[in-house]
Amino acid sequence: MDDYKTVKQSQTTLTELMIPSYSNFGGKVHGGVILGLMDKVAYACAAKHAGNYCVTVSIDTVNFLAPVEVGELVSLLASVNYVGNSSMVIGIRVQTENVRTQQIKHTNSSYFTMVAMGDDHQPAKVPALILQTQTEIKRFYEAYHRRELTKYYNQEQNRIKNDSELEEAIKIISQERCKIELL
Ligand SMILES: CC(C)(COP(=O)(O)OP(=O)(O)OC[C@H]1O[C@@H](n2cnc3c(N)ncnc32)[C@H](O)[C@@H]1OP(=O)(O)O)[C@@H](O)C(=O)NCCC(=O)NCCS
Repeated sequence: MDDYKTVKQSQTTLTELMIPSYSNFGGKVHGGVILGLMDKVAYACAAKHAGNYCVTVSIDTVNFLAPVEVGELVSLLASVNYVGNSSMVIGIRVQTENVRTQQIKHTNSSYFTMVAMGDDHQPAKVPALILQTQTEIKRFYEAYHRRELTKYYNQEQNRIKNDSELEEAIKIISQERCKIELL
């Protein structure tokens, strides 16, 4: 019998104040600080769902839509969007709040794939998901679709890596901003 959990049971929010030591030379918060917080909240959400220790196996594209300022409150909202057998896709939305103006800004979103690990240090089965809203159904379906696209993308990447001819590659990249000076 499958064990089930709702999305709500593991939804997690992490809020942190952006302090001056998090800033880069331009005075904005380092992208790496935000990525570290995303990994933390993904872990917390995945571990709550799995009831087990989890590891990060893959991170989807992260586009930084707007800079994060020192002094802002950053909140990271995480939900399990999809589950496989031992893997879980955690959707994370990052938003900032200016405490003086209360303005909320969406700065980035991403999907982290986490795998639950058992006491034997092998991937362990996670509970299936109970989808209770239209949004949860949509997110599950989108993650399923992304997984199929990733499989296709990886196959294409391998094909290019293993089968492409140098002559063909030179022809294609000749339109790009590079100069070939073979030694
Ligand atoms: C996670 C890990 C144990 C998986 O090992 P594996 O030999 O690929 O195991 P499996 O083939 O059984 O895969 C386990 C699950 O991970 C998923 N998976 C593995 N690699 C993946 C990837 N790159 N992207 C998405 N999912 C992946 C598989 O699809 C499978 O999902 P499912 O159980 O839901 O079907 C192994 O890759 C690992 O230890 N990675 C390092 C993780 C880590 O240390 N992270 C922190 C980095 S500092």
